[in-house]
Amino acid sequence: MDQLKTLLATAPDRIQAAPNLEALREVENQLLGRKSLVAESRRSLASLPSEERPVVGAQLNEAHQRLTALIEGRRADLERIAEDGLLLGDRVDVTLPARELRLGWHHLVTQTLDEVADIFVSLGYGVVTGPEVDTAWHNFDALNTPPTHPSRLESDTMYVDYGNPDDELLLRTQTSTMQVRYMEQHDPPVYIVAPGRCYRADTLDATHSPVFHQIEGLAVDENISMADLKGTLAHFMREFLGSERKIRLLPHFFPFTEPSAEMHVSCFNCDGSGCRVCGKSGWIELLGCGVVDPHVLEAVGYDTSKYSGFAFGVGAERLAMVRHGINHIKHFYENDLRVLRQFT
Ligand code: DAH
Repeated sequence: MDQLKTLLATAPDRIQAAPNLEALREVENQLLGRKSLVAESRRSLASLPSEERPVVGAQLNEAHQRLTALIEGRRADLERIAEDGLLLGDRVDVTLPARELRLGWHHLVTQTLDEVADIFVSLGYGVVTGPEVDTAWHNFDALNTPPTHPSRLESDTMYVDYGNPDDELLLRTQTSTMQVRYMEQHDPPVYIVAPGRCYRADTLDATHSPVFHQIEGLAVDENISMADLKGTLAHFMREFLGSERKIRLLPHFFPFTEPSAEMHVSCFNCDGSGCRVCGKSGWIELLGCGVVDPHVLEAVGYDTSKYSGFAFGVGAERLAMVRHGINHIKHFYENDLRVLRQFT
């Protein structure tokens, strides 16, 4: 009975001190479990003298009830605390600042290709695309490029199947292949632009990359002349670079155009007065163009007595560099988000 008194005196603190439900179960086991003082005393009631049994039995029952009540009370508290904790953990603080939503965007090269295509679509041109691996015939022969032309050498062109006379495959060096491919399949009139990727055995420097992008333009119709080319390119440049930029056409040579020209724009950096960017000339070379050589039209079976055309090819990276003042072509390929994010 002395032990029971001590137990009852200390039990409330022990029960209250249980920090969680698991600890409370442990305390309950100690106080009321099979090996507890209460349980063992009950088992030994039979050995007591019969007149003491009811008194001790009653005290044990009362102790059991008190302990049970204390434990249940603590259990109810702990369950409530546990539930509150769960609710607290699930709480959403609607006053926190929202997380930045990062949407993707088109790469500057794609934006440039799309924008140029849009300018020509608004003039009534169609947009066509074709394979990056093509035949030497589409890339060179049909474009009036002689077998001995230096651009055909392996030092300039990346071949997939070099020297195979039936089917010499290469990575196209220019989107001009699409002139041939389109005209093979369609009768004139032709008004198309062809954006796409090109490859050359070039070493990377500020303006050259072994992989780059071009947009080809081709118009074939009756009475097409150099004047149409000039007017079309002037419109294109006004739309793409703004009306402040001047353009000029200088005589040049390409196998697939006659006459051929190189188009220059006034330097975006110095506005024509001459600086480091334009090599002091005040002009930046932007694209190649010309009146389609009749040999090219003949290669695809067009009637050259009736039809003539103009063509041009422009580098997409170059266009974007001139427009945005980007000083190295590597910025298009390094995937540095600090660069790309400026063009979202
Ligand atoms: N294909 C030429 C190049 O990559 C660019 C070019 C020049 C395209 C004149 C043309 C053209 O269509 O008429 O350097």
